[in-house]
Amino acid sequence: MDFNLHSFPSSALKGTFLPPGDKSISHRAIILGSLAEGATRIERLLEGEDVLRTIGVMRRLGVAIHQESVGVWSVTGVGLDGLREPDDVLDFGNSGTGIRLMAGVLASQPFLTVLTGDASLRQRPMGRVVQPLTKMGAHILGRQGGRLAPLVIQGGELTPMDYESPVASAQVKTAVLLAGLNTPGQTSVLEPALSRDHTERMLTAFGGQLSNTGTRVTVQGRPSLRGQLIQVPGDFSAAAFLIVAALLVKGSEILLRGVGINPTRIGLLTLLRRMGGRIEIENERMNGGEPVADLRIFHSKLSGIQVPVELIAQTIDEFPIFFIAAAVAEGETVVTEAQELRVKESDRLAAMAEGLRRFGVTVEERPDGMSIVGCGRPLAGGCIVDSFTDHRVAMSFLVAGLVSKEPVTVLRCGNINTSFPTFVQAITQLGGSIVPKGI
Ligand code: S3P
Repeated sequence: MDFNLHSFPSSALKGTFLPPGDKSISHRAIILGSLAEGATRIERLLEGEDVLRTIGVMRRLGVAIHQESVGVWSVTGVGLDGLREPDDVLDFGNSGTGIRLMAGVLASQPFLTVLTGDASLRQRPMGRVVQPLTKMGAHILGRQGGRLAPLVIQGGELTPMDYESPVASAQVKTAVLLAGLNTPGQTSVLEPALSRDHTERMLTAFGGQLSNTGTRVTVQGRPSLRGQLIQVPGDFSAAAFLIVAALLVKGSEILLRGVGINPTRIGLLTLLRRMGGRIEIENERMNGGEPVADLRIFHSKLSGIQVPVELIAQTIDEFPIFFIAAAVAEGETVVTEAQELRVKESDRLAAMAEGLRRFGVTVEERPDGMSIVGCGRPLAGGCIVDSFTDHRVAMSFLVAGLVSKEPVTVLRCGNINTSFPTFVQAITQLGGSIVPKGI
């Protein structure tokens, strides 16, 4: 169900919050738990719509998955040969990660599947996974020359491959590695820059054999995977909205507990610190192969920057909220070589440029990025902006409302539930006000 939200100018944000489990890691825990032998227990699983879709798909493929209590789930793994042909279409909703990772799994399974999703997902590029999986021997049909979902996959025995990916994408890398996992021999992926490495870390924990050289990763096919206890770290990409809110709202000081700080994910932290943001990392520890810490964030005066190209892949999901930080900072911020933002849940360059203009911010949208002239003070606000049904665009403009002079309405916010169902609760708990429109 879709809904609109109102965000009100906020006084200082204070307090502590435990962000929900990481979305990328939650998908992988369900998938690898299903492909392992024996029981996997997952704690702090993100119970957002995207992950619930992956659970629904695995159940349709014959895997028993149960919720034990809030955030705690058990998966009874069926092994690499235990999935069975589903009797209906597999619906991934809004989830690009779900459909692309599962395309990799299903490419090697000896049965037919049809994969689809919502209107946004059906517009997203699938050629990037269809192409390598087809090269490995899978038969995949899709609309527009195999590029777009719905996809029909007739899986079967594949041939291992050494794949050079044209994009730094963890979804592409993981799809190929998951296909290679069920294929005798060694399958490698070389990417132009290192994308998030959660698959590599978790697969190793499950007993998989991987090796890395630079940005090439190689998986050994047909290992025996054993069920595990997975404690999912807090999602840095959810925490990002609270980090920026606390940096921008005057007088704020908040503590976010148990946040994943995997180096392939925290480009935003580096950027915000370079802009003058005070973010302290406390209590750093390892949690099932993933680094985790508590983050203490203080209101700070920010200055615009040129975003280094080498930080793009590590910041990829955080650009919408980064653009809000840039809009409030003093001076110009420029992002280039970030054209991947055009093929996310929405065209994030177009959606953010359009909304920021409504906030009274001067922006120049470019084919591969954006330049933003920061206001150096709270935004004008008093506007209605569209999220284009994109969860991260919606949350970004709601955070912008907290640091505006007048309240803001954000349209079509329902997809916030795909990744951060407790977002409004988090803001409320920290002292801000975001409410359904009309109340
Ligand atoms: C993800 C990878 C990223 C990211 C997405 C989650 C993953 O996509 O944007 O939200 O879990 O592998 P790309 O791999 O396409 O960059």
